[in-house]
Amino acid sequence: MRATTAPKTYRVKSFGCQMNVYDGERMAELLSQQGIAPAPEGAEADLVVLNTCHIREKAVDKVYSDIGRLRREDGTAPLIAVAGCVAQAEGEEIMARAPTVSMVVGPQAYHRLPAMIAEAAAGRRAVDTDMPAETKFDALPARRKVGPGAFLTVQEGCDKFCTYCVVPHTRGAEISRPFADVAAEAQRLVEAGAKELTLIGQNVNAWTGKDANGRAAGLDGLIRHLAELPGLTRIRYTTSHPNDMTEELIAAHGEIEKLMPFLHLPVQSGSDRVLRAMNRSHTTSSYLRTLDRVRAVRPDIALSGDFIVGFPGETEDEFRETLALVEAVGYAQCFSFKYSPRPGTPAATMDGQIAPQEMDERLQRLQAALQRSSLAFNLASVGKRCTVMVERKGKLPGQWLGKSPWLQSVHFEGAAGLGDLVEVELTQGGPNSLHAVMV
Ligand code: 5AD
Ligand code: SF4
Repeated sequence: MRATTAPKTYRVKSFGCQMNVYDGERMAELLSQQGIAPAPEGAEADLVVLNTCHIREKAVDKVYSDIGRLRREDGTAPLIAVAGCVAQAEGEEIMARAPTVSMVVGPQAYHRLPAMIAEAAAGRRAVDTDMPAETKFDALPARRKVGPGAFLTVQEGCDKFCTYCVVPHTRGAEISRPFADVAAEAQRLVEAGAKELTLIGQNVNAWTGKDANGRAAGLDGLIRHLAELPGLTRIRYTTSHPNDMTEELIAAHGEIEKLMPFLHLPVQSGSDRVLRAMNRSHTTSSYLRTLDRVRAVRPDIALSGDFIVGFPGETEDEFRETLALVEAVGYAQCFSFKYSPRPGTPAATMDGQIAPQEMDERLQRLQAALQRSSLAFNLASVGKRCTVMVERKGKLPGQWLGKSPWLQSVHFEGAAGLGDLVEVELTQGGPNSLHAVMV
């Protein structure tokens, strides 16, 4: 049975990418502003927002099992809102399949949640998957308290239409938030305690706008402006498309000290034939050339990427080209996935779908290669001195966990506090983290 009372407490559960983490935080702030309180740890919330991800099949299955799990023994359930990309893609289907769900709200419409909650409390279910002209950013409350590292959405959507990907369908066309809005939010985040800002967008390096003087600017111009903010010590950005790595953005890596030496640049495959079938509009050699140009201005840059194994038609030889690319690049860290056919995308109906066992085997081999690469990168960092931004307490007493400029997880012991920038020497490295001593 569906809940129909005004909620006093909420919980937001986010899945998937950093965009979703950001959206989840913004929804939480919106609900708090409405006088609904975050549910205490372990207690059931009156309102549960499932902020979903549609990028791969498993992510979608999770939504339905989560909805099922919210059902109480007597068959009732809290008020449930499904948000995010599954909401956008399968709104009506969720309503039909999951009778305990009261609200379905897409990633561009969640500023309308308060009105939907009022409707739901009156017993009316609603789906809102509009991509309205008014932007949610204008309707959301200002952020008052944030951790030392904060995300800031500057760009949303994607026009690239890679043949495997749902993002252009769920998040819509590329839009850039205006320069002044981003600058104002960055200022507020720094005032609220942020020391590191990660500018996020599905295609963040496609950001365009006009700077304070009305001149056309790209992401490099935005970063240059933010780097002037006193109190802000680190800037990062993610995720980028290889074709949008402009000369200016590459140059910024060599010139802006606050811009951290880390670049997440998905490549997906090491085979030019597969890249064409994916509609990636870059080749392995154009990708490698871009990396060379970044390395020329910032030799210590840590590189990261995304990979898909088992794209339809991928042969063993083509997969080996991916392994060869991994060897050639020397990534610091990467994400790798089995291809998942997404409804409505061209790749889903392509010939040559790869058997699940084959995909498992390729993913294992790729992940072993990526682990070796991360380990080699981390071992090469041992002996370096750097600053670590403290993000949380470690598992052992007196231990802290933070991030190096190269986005490595670093453990160390000593007198430090959350958000501190601590000088350390890296002393020991594994594939996923390093140890350090304070200097
Ligand atoms: N199957 C598997 N992985 C996918 N990705 C996007 N779509 C799919 C899909 N259908 C991966 C890509 C992308 C990352 C965010 O998710 O590697 O860069
Ligand atoms: Fe998806 Fe390709 Fe756009 Fe990335 S660039 S969001 S993989 S369509």
